[in-house]
Amino acid sequence: ILLLLLALLAAYLLGSIPTALWVGRRFFGLADIRQHGSGNAGATNTFRVLGKKAGSFVLLVDAFKGFAAAYFLPNALLNAGALEPQNLFYVRLACGVLAVVGHIYPVWAQFRGGKGVATIVGMMLAIAPATVGVCILVFLAVLALSRYVSLSSMTAGVAFALLQLLPWKPFRPDIPLQVWCGFALAAMLVYTHRANIGRLRAGTESRVPLPWAR
Ligand code: G3P
Repeated sequence: ILLLLLALLAAYLLGSIPTALWVGRRFFGLADIRQHGSGNAGATNTFRVLGKKAGSFVLLVDAFKGFAAAYFLPNALLNAGALEPQNLFYVRLACGVLAVVGHIYPVWAQFRGGKGVATIVGMMLAIAPATVGVCILVFLAVLALSRYVSLSSMTAGVAFALLQLLPWKPFRPDIPLQVWCGFALAAMLVYTHRANIGRLRAGTESRVPLPWAR
């Protein structure tokens, strides 16, 4: 039980690493990316404020935080004999969710982090990769049509929850709790995007530039 608690704490601390903030400070001399663009410490705002290279890096690292928490930490517990195999998926979900919570409310950055999209993608790649694959297609389709990253993220999050209701593999979840977790994360995404929803309704949300208009 001590090892399990340590793994849960490690998952939260891993998720708490404020990649966007750190990249801005370390490589661009930007004191706080949360004072620029949308004010979010996430990959999208890093793309917007610091460019493609920095944005892709933040996207990869933020996704990796979720993947590492949901994949490597529970596997380590399993290998150490501190976890029964039948509980593996519960611990994957718990560690993944804690990494997402850490990303949104980071202890290393005054509890003001990102919106959770990249870290949820990473965590779910370890748990339900096929469902994530379809959601990435949904994300890209909505992005191509609307050019709003926030709208695409929320639609993909809701699609993730709904896809898990399909009864057949590879979408059928490993444990029923996974469905609830999917819906809770989708609700959390809508919540973290509440300022974006306000801007979408007011018509002031920023759009991704058209590739040929750059
Ligand atoms: O990465 C989160 C995205 O969905 C919205 O980010 O910066 O446009 O608020 P942003």
